[in-house]
Amino acid sequence: MSADNKSRGFWATRMGFILAASGSAVGLGNIWKFPYITGENGGGAFVLVYLICIALIGLPIMLAEFTLGRKSGLNPVGAFSAIKPGSPWVGVGFMGVIAGFLILSFYGVVGGWSIAYTVKSFTLSVVDFSHPSEAGNFFVEFTGNPVEATFYHFLFMAICVVIVARGIDRGIERACNLLMPALILFLVVLMVRSLTLPGAMEGVEFYLRPDFSKITAEAILLALGHAFFSLSLGMGAMITYGSYLKQGESLASATFAVVLFDTVIALLAGLVIFPAVFAMGLEPTAGPSLVFMVLPTVFSNMPLGAIASIIFFSLLMIAALTSGISLLEVVVAFFIDQLGWSRKKAAWVMGGVIFALGVPSGLSFGVMAEYKLAGMNFFDFVDNIASNYLLPLGGMFTAIFVGWVWGIKSAKAEVEKSGETFRLAAVWGFILRYVTPVCVALVFVAKFLQE
Ligand code: TRP
Repeated sequence: MSADNKSRGFWATRMGFILAASGSAVGLGNIWKFPYITGENGGGAFVLVYLICIALIGLPIMLAEFTLGRKSGLNPVGAFSAIKPGSPWVGVGFMGVIAGFLILSFYGVVGGWSIAYTVKSFTLSVVDFSHPSEAGNFFVEFTGNPVEATFYHFLFMAICVVIVARGIDRGIERACNLLMPALILFLVVLMVRSLTLPGAMEGVEFYLRPDFSKITAEAILLALGHAFFSLSLGMGAMITYGSYLKQGESLASATFAVVLFDTVIALLAGLVIFPAVFAMGLEPTAGPSLVFMVLPTVFSNMPLGAIASIIFFSLLMIAALTSGISLLEVVVAFFIDQLGWSRKKAAWVMGGVIFALGVPSGLSFGVMAEYKLAGMNFFDFVDNIASNYLLPLGGMFTAIFVGWVWGIKSAKAEVEKSGETFRLAAVWGFILRYVTPVCVALVFVAKFLQE
């Protein structure tokens, strides 16, 4: 049932695969979302809840995705239909490919901002603010300028396309082999700079002081949803990356390595951001305003700030690029496997389509700010559909598919092709069959009750 994998390509090394999958996982979610939701929702107590979600839901689903991918040697649509031909399960694969289109469309916009701010750090124009409101005005002016913001958005997508068009080992793997070590180095350098600022400990305190009274149902849901997004689960990105694995590799230990990598980077990101923000006497905020308004103010006022700014926005750009590549690869693999397109054609045409779909998201911060769908601007609307609906549903159906339809026995046999005995198979099966579906269903029930 496997496709002719030779023409699709393989990862050249096990390390290359782990770095590529970690590159997919480590992204904007780790750097601008995780630290903030941790600080706001109980610090160390929230970290504990998040770790439980990761271990209980994240690890098992990632292993399920890698296993589906390697077994079928195909993109998500191909994977579901190879294992259960002619069944509606192929719809889960389609949901994944559509999620890839949608997520990359708005992710690319922010990726473009990260390139722009890296460039503007070199010219010192984003390290010249005495107050976040000045940095805020700068940001609003930049994102509201349709020509400039769209140019950087285009540049980000073009870089993703060029890398993906070069293929698995020569494109994605080589890029990640270069970029991921740089990302770690940058993060460590920034952490040292940040933690040695006077007053840094106040930020660490805000970030990690455990407050169990903040662990509400809502905080738990947030942790669960973020576990999906941060590990790139629920849309077949890891199915696709798993499809380029050779038979001999151990899936279980690779899964563990990727999850650990993603979690450590997320935790470290908070140790970069909050000590610096508090040392400068500023208020932490969420998302774009933290990264593009508060941090530039921090860099403007701290010793060696211009260099820190270059390093930070390069880090953000790398994190966004290696994730953007994986999102594009899901779509590209679908067009290669299912429709017989060449890799080059799939990358350039679909990269172009996704860029076009993203333009209104980019304009949501300027000329289209007043254009609302269901009360949200275009950017938030697309983000909401993909992140809050398609990903958790995709993850739930993937777990049900592997747990009940394909069956734990067959999945276990695939894991054990590497020659190891998978001792935790029974636990894995129990989680996929019962725990994951119930947890995700609870998220949806809670959401509807809220509305
Ligand atoms: N994990 C990435 C982040 O944390 C985002 C991402 C990349 C993603 N590929 C994905 C999310 C696939 C879900 C599915 O920013």
